[in-house]
Amino acid sequence: MNRVYIKTYGCQMNERDSEQVASSLRDRGYSVVDNEFDADVVLLNTCSVRDQAEQKAIGKAGYLSKRKRENPNFILGVMGCMAQNRGEELFDRLPDLDLVVGTQKFHRVPDHLDHLIQTSNGQGPRPSTLMDLGEEEGSQNTIKDHVSKTNEVSAFVSIMQGCNMNCAFCIVPKTRGSERSRPIEQIVEEVQELAVNGVKEVTFLGQIVTSYGRREFPVIDGKSPFVQLLERTNEVPGIERIRFTSPHPRGFKQDLVEAYRDLPKLCEYIHLPLQAGCDKTLRAMNRPYTKSRYRQIVDSLRAVVPHMYFSTDIIVGFPGETEEDFNESAAFFEDIGFDMAYIFKYSIRTGTPAEAMPDQIPQEEKERRNQVLLDILSKSSLQRNETLIGTTQEVLVEGPAKRGDAYMGKTRGHRNAIFEADERLIGHLVDLNIKRVTASSLYGDLVLAGVDTTN
Ligand code: SAH
Ligand code: F3S
Repeated sequence: MNRVYIKTYGCQMNERDSEQVASSLRDRGYSVVDNEFDADVVLLNTCSVRDQAEQKAIGKAGYLSKRKRENPNFILGVMGCMAQNRGEELFDRLPDLDLVVGTQKFHRVPDHLDHLIQTSNGQGPRPSTLMDLGEEEGSQNTIKDHVSKTNEVSAFVSIMQGCNMNCAFCIVPKTRGSERSRPIEQIVEEVQELAVNGVKEVTFLGQIVTSYGRREFPVIDGKSPFVQLLERTNEVPGIERIRFTSPHPRGFKQDLVEAYRDLPKLCEYIHLPLQAGCDKTLRAMNRPYTKSRYRQIVDSLRAVVPHMYFSTDIIVGFPGETEEDFNESAAFFEDIGFDMAYIFKYSIRTGTPAEAMPDQIPQEEKERRNQVLLDILSKSSLQRNETLIGTTQEVLVEGPAKRGDAYMGKTRGHRNAIFEADERLIGHLVDLNIKRVTASSLYGDLVLAGVDTTN
């Protein structure tokens, strides 16, 4: 009765939360398995950011309910954003559900499972269902354990929870609550521990990392708490690369731009959500910046690191986005020349301001606009990758590539690199001579003189 399978939907934050739940379950004596058929308990860690993500998880839960009918002791739980967003309603929709756990209660999962299992073993009345969705002070400080401390090369570290912005389209402030940050010291200790266990790259996670510690910790020497955290992390021995996701243009100040000049471990790749490249749409979205401000940030980063890589989030078909507005947005998107982008078709989220806005855009039109941006992106990322042919790129070797017997890793610019290598190079930084590229990957040969196998 103690084999648990966790299926994760959505963003890296969810991946990280699932790792945390897995780690706490292992500590409690559960075994975390990697396939649902071997499990006595299945937990779905869900996403609510778009309707499609919710529908996928609901479909999966419906399918798993069949298991429940065959085996009444089977336990099915829903955790995370959809649990928080839909709450009670989930039990109506999925009568076989046992457990619903919100985004501030992940650390309580072992207790809840213990309880469900003990009671189904006849030790006391088994609750038909268990729901835990409250807010919990200090829950941001419960996310610090990692599942496999030994074989990770690159690790995610959550530094804060929640978001205090009110983007008109976004459900996250509802599902993740208000901003709460972990102390710098605690995060640095976690990074040190990861480094001791062989991790070379950390990615800091938060819904709005530029707001990190804004209310909790002071600005020192003109540096925000987030930049202080980056500086401290830059000093951790063994850590070679620092990344983060996502900053907000509003909080992107000069101190962060200068961090790219001053901190050698901070990788020159930035994911900076744009959402729209048209001031009218940005206003309607309640995004407090203009496209010219966004442009300034990009220019100031390129001024300190000329080969800076940019990635973004952008939404097409926001209510009221006319053909003209979209064309303006697309032109701006093309002009910046993104290396990577997540392009989203606007999805109505119940309870958000944009739900009630007039002039919703028909689905076919969203599809069309989506395709226009995808075409621009594949052109700009291919063009960028082509400039890398013949150059030498530093690659952190992560492991075997998906296909064939090659290996894969990432450049500092977060380009996917594929090359012939050896298992012993996993976790090492190698130099790769780039021979051939596609829009999504670089192919190259190891520069053997640059191989460092000493550490
Ligand atoms: N600040 C968070 C955003 C989380 S949501 C972060 O950057 O990590 C991730 C992305 O989903 C958003 O940046 C936005 O582009 C997209 N998104 C959010 N709500 C959406 C909606 N209702 N429809 C379509 N895309 C949406
Ligand atoms: Fe969502 Fe906007 Fe925050 S996109 S997570 S409300 S910055």
